[in-house]
Amino acid sequence: MDLKNYLKDREEIVNKALDSLLPGEDEFPQRLHKAMRYSVFAGGKRIRPILAVASAEVFGKTAEDVINIACAIELIHTYSLIHDDLPAIDNDDLRRGMPTNHKVFGEAIALLAGDALLTMAFQIMSRQVGRAVPANYRWAEPTLQVIQEIASAAGSIGMVGGQVVDIESEGKEVAFPVLEYIHIHKTGELILASCRAGAIMANAGDKGLEAITKYGEAIGLAFQIADDILDVEGNKEEAGKNIGGDAKKGKATYPSVLGVDESRKRAKELVDIAIASLKGFDEKAEPLRAIARYIVERRK
Ligand code: IPE
Ligand code: IPE
Ligand code: MG
Ligand code: MG
Ligand code: MG
Repeated sequence: MDLKNYLKDREEIVNKALDSLLPGEDEFPQRLHKAMRYSVFAGGKRIRPILAVASAEVFGKTAEDVINIACAIELIHTYSLIHDDLPAIDNDDLRRGMPTNHKVFGEAIALLAGDALLTMAFQIMSRQVGRAVPANYRWAEPTLQVIQEIASAAGSIGMVGGQVVDIESEGKEVAFPVLEYIHIHKTGELILASCRAGAIMANAGDKGLEAITKYGEAIGLAFQIADDILDVEGNKEEAGKNIGGDAKKGKATYPSVLGVDESRKRAKELVDIAIASLKGFDEKAEPLRAIARYIVERRK
């Protein structure tokens, strides 16, 4: 399994679709559309849309079958990054190797570009439902389920909830369950939803979906643990964001609570759990297995 090529190929598919979905920079109001495109195309890994695609592929579907949902998830993720970087939240000035959105466009536009990306995601996903009716009823029901799950993963009982507890915990000593809550919610939920979305769109069935859910839960948490470790040990050039900010802000992170070595150990255990949950699948699940390993080994 050549993960590098796999990621490159799926990334290209996602980028092409995102380009055709987003309003052009010359469309009014230009500054807003420019700001939206600036952050979307600043160079993210596209790991969430690729997970949606890879999960669908396990059940015999292709990137094309889930591309709208996959792109919508990336728009939600990008909105969350723009807002996460704002002075009121993490106050960061580098993202995806470029100055953060508010540094280039100002805080008002950054806020509104985030709002617009989030809203657009739901427009794209609901259009997918419209496409399914009446020509192909099979698609309508799974698409509605996916929209509900993504909304929940992104909202107050998902990512936004996690972000709130993240900022409320700054400078405090947090108990392990609070740390786990933050990580599962601010990051894990959307990653889990990405995996489930692909599987649901591909009519995975109960057992298949259960396996993908276990996989998604494990890699979702592992992803944020790896992100925390990168903030301690990574470097700015590779990561495309400033390093060391978590310690400065007194963030609740795995390294701050458990130390780097124990954090790495936990992340690796989660990868093992993720891979074990895929044991019933054939070689079509090989990309998911490789992505799980990549999540804790990445430098970006
Ligand atoms: C960064 O996500 C924010 C977290 C949830 C940890 P990614 O590491 O996926 O960032 P991009 O999309 O590749 O820039
Ligand atoms: C980000 O967590 C989670 C979301 C954006 C929802 P972090 O604050 O650790 O992400 P980075 O390190 O800024 O990418
Ligand atoms: Mg943050
Ligand atoms: Mg941040
Ligand atoms: Mg971080």
